[in-house]
Order: sequence, then structure tokens, then C-alpha cells
Amino acid sequence: MLEKLGRNLPCWCGSGKKYKNCHMEFDERIAEFKNAGHIVPKHKMIKNPDQIARIRESCKVNVAVLDAVAAAIHEGMPTSEIDRIVYDTTTAMGAIPAPLHYQGFPYSVCTSVNEQVCHGFPSDKVILRSGDIVNVDCSSILNGYFSDSSRMFMIGDVSPEKRKLVQVTKECVELGLEQVKPWGFLGDMGQAVNDHARANGYSVVRDIGGHGVGIEFHEDPFVSYVTRRGEDMLLVPGMIFTIEPMVNMGSCLYDVNPDNGWEITTRDGKPSAQWEIMVLVTEDGHEVLSW
Ligand code: MF3
Ligand code: CO
Repeated sequence: MLEKLGRNLPCWCGSGKKYKNCHMEFDERIAEFKNAGHIVPKHKMIKNPDQIARIRESCKVNVAVLDAVAAAIHEGMPTSEIDRIVYDTTTAMGAIPAPLHYQGFPYSVCTSVNEQVCHGFPSDKVILRSGDIVNVDCSSILNGYFSDSSRMFMIGDVSPEKRKLVQVTKECVELGLEQVKPWGFLGDMGQAVNDHARANGYSVVRDIGGHGVGIEFHEDPFVSYVTRRGEDMLLVPGMIFTIEPMVNMGSCLYDVNPDNGWEITTRDGKPSAQWEIMVLVTEDGHEVLSW
């Protein structure tokens, strides 16, 4: 009833239109899902066209930074060099590397090699060797708007087993992405990711996952890959989140480096891979904003 009273007031989305002519039907549709017992997004998770345009600009920086890394990465390179490239490329474009000083994170990028799952510290002591697989996770802030995506790189002569891990992890993201559509569920995506990893004998890390992103670095919802089709949060147009499964060749168990509290490695020492994309839920499907 409260909603009805406000039907002639300006819509919450900032369009300037009356609520009844803007998001009122949209909210009623969401309420139906809520009444049926589903988890539904809050208004603050739904970006308006102006915000989406600004986030899109940030994503262009993020993609350019990853492209710069892709052009430069090579055998014999210390991962500290990747950190320098990310810092220089990002700042040259008028942006800020989001990881730098984020909750005390000391670098501009995460570089996670082989059995490192995520949040690896770039270092002049970590030299990329032939046979290594490395995740480079870039996040950028442009004019206050956030972007976040990561890619895997294979250095020199990589074993077929590790190549397959990298390829299957990418396929997990692509299969998950296919499931992203308005009025579907986050669990549709999560199950697609998990099914493909498990079908290949791999495991997916459970309690580190993706997130809403754009206005802040890490927003709700938490994006899990151990969810089921038809479950988890309802997806609606305007939501932006990451899909970034960490897929392990062996067990999903991991350890946190006790010295720095950041770096995550697989407990069994087997390799782990991750790709991360940023996706927007559109009126008729989805749009990849950053990869
Ligand atoms: N980009 C990563 C993410 O997906 C890692 C966070 S960066 C760090 O959230 F600063 F927190 F390490
Ligand atoms: Co992320």
C-alpha cells in the first residue's frame, strides 16, 4: 500500500519520471518473486543508464590494462613487472588501480601462479617460468566507478593437464554467462559453472566468489558457484556482477598465507585457474562489460 501511495512521486531510479510510469510494474514483478519465497535484489543493486555508462567507461580502462599485460607478459618476467605495467597503464588513463591499499592490499594487481588460487602478491622473486599458468586480476576505478576482470596466461610450454584446466575454467565462465538473463536466477549461472567443472573432474572453490560491482568494488550479491538452478537471487535488468570461479585441479580446499593474510593456495598443491568477467543484466539477456 505504501508503494501505491507513492505512484505519482518521482521514481527511485533517478529518471525523473513518475513512479507509476517508470519502475512500478517492475517492482510489482519483483514482489511476486519475493512472495513466492525467492531472494530478490534491493534497489541499490540496480544501476540506472547514467551509472551504467560511467561503469562502462571504467571497464574500457580495465580491458586496456589487461591488454597491455597480455602484450608484455613473457617467460623470465618477474610478476612485480606486471604490477608496474598495471599501475602505469591505469594511471596513464586517468584511473586508479582498485586493489592498491584496498583493505591494506599492497599492490595494484593480483598475480596468482599455478597453485595460487587468488590474491597472489606480485614480487620480484616470482619469475614466470615455462610451464606456469598465471591469473592476472585487474580492477580499476575511473571517476569513482569500478571495474574488475581477470584472465589466465600460459607461459611457454604448458602441460596438457594445465592447458585443459585453463580452457575448462574459461568454458565454465562462458556456460555460466549463457544463463544470465532477466527474471532468471543467480543459481542458474552457478550450477552451470559447477556442473562443467565437476564433469571434468575439477572442484570449484566454495566461499570465495564473485560480487556486485560498479558503484563500489565489492557490492551485494555474493556470487557463488555452488548454487542450484532456480535458486539464489533473482536477476533483473540493471544488475552488474562478476562471474569469477576459481577452479581447482584437485580438491577445493585452500589455505591463506599466514604471513600476509591475503594469498590463497590450494591445500593439495595442485594447480588452480580463474577467469573473471563483469556482466550487466539487460532487458533481453546480458552484456559482458569487461573481460
Ligand atoms: N579483483 C579481485 C576480486 O575479484 C580481487 C580483489 S583485489 C584485492 O574481487 F585487493 F582485494 F586483493
Ligand atoms: Co572480482
